[in-house]
Amino acid sequence: MRNQIIAKAAAVAMTALVPGIAFAGGPVDDELVIDGEIQMITRAAPPEGHPLDEVLSGWLYRTEETRLLETDTFENPGMLEVQDGADLWNTVDGSAGKSCASCHGDAEESMAGVGASFPKWDQASNRPINVELQINKCRTEEMGAEAYKFDAPEQKALTAYVKHQSLGTPVAIDLAEGHMQSWWEKGNELYYTRTGQLNLSCASCHEQNNGNYIRADHLSQGNVNGFPTYRLKQASLVSLHNRFRGCIRDTRAEFPAAFSDELMALEVYVTWRGTGLSVETPAVRQ
Ligand code: HEC
Ligand code: HEC
Repeated sequence: MRNQIIAKAAAVAMTALVPGIAFAGGPVDDELVIDGEIQMITRAAPPEGHPLDEVLSGWLYRTEETRLLETDTFENPGMLEVQDGADLWNTVDGSAGKSCASCHGDAEESMAGVGASFPKWDQASNRPINVELQINKCRTEEMGAEAYKFDAPEQKALTAYVKHQSLGTPVAIDLAEGHMQSWWEKGNELYYTRTGQLNLSCASCHEQNNGNYIRADHLSQGNVNGFPTYRLKQASLVSLHNRFRGCIRDTRAEFPAAFSDELMALEVYVTWRGTGLSVETPAVRQ
């Protein structure tokens, strides 16, 4: 209730402060089928306690041209970096003389569906980890290799490769593990907290105004099922925490570090908001 009031106030503030929010134009009525055979779930019934009536993929808010790029893995420009990830999967690195494949074998089998259930609770570090951090964990603890730096091309490519093995699988994270629930609550609170000079929360744009335009951008629900996502604007894969930071920066607020407690809590919460949507990695967005 409190959150709803805050979000309403923010929506009013935004229309006043952000020029360009004008006309509404909801999601399109279209179906995403990849390579003519993988039927993707772009509309799902929300999990219990979700504020919206329907969970919608960001794909439904893009132009026809952009949507088409995602329907064919040969046309999808993000697949080049996924291929780099496949090469890295088989590359020996570190003092143990191992590659990912040495332990996990064929990723198409061992990683099928795995990406759809991240972030997961990590007992050892007593916090949730995402695929990027799981990869770094395997590199440092299992391979004797260095952790990838945030947004290193290798990190994006290998994360996308692992997630791509879940293409079509519905997102489902386990909030019963460890202290996932309290991270969800922290993420929920952050989602509705207004920040920055523009005094906007995630909800101001992605809940109150989804379907509306902000400048030339058609606002979606801000779901994470396509990450790492190929952005036409950047002409490369963009990681989730990079996207979060960009959205926060747009409210003219200071943005937290990648993999900080704040962004991990947001990742847990926002991933839950997209429960039931197919993993689209690498999704194509503007
Ligand atoms: C020496 C063996 C070894 C190597 C090499 C290795 N891993 Fe792992 N990996 C494991 C073990 C053991 C686990 C499960 C325990 C854990 O979470 O650490 C695991 C778990 C994972 C998971 C989570 C699986 C799940 O079901 O949740 C992913 C994803 C993963 N590894 C990716 C990679 C990638 C990518 C590489 C290469 C950079 C790699 N691993 C290298 C041993 C290895
Ligand atoms: C000022 C408005 C605004 C705010 C506030 C905002 N975003 Fe966004 N966000 C956008 C725009 C514009 C896009 C690109 C169009 C779209 O997909 O909605 C976007 C895209 C996204 C996407 C990618 C969606 C996809 O399908 O690829 C995610 C995830 C996201 N935002 C999360 C967040 C989170 C989490 C917050 C709060 C920390 C937030 N956003 C705050 C405007 C905003």
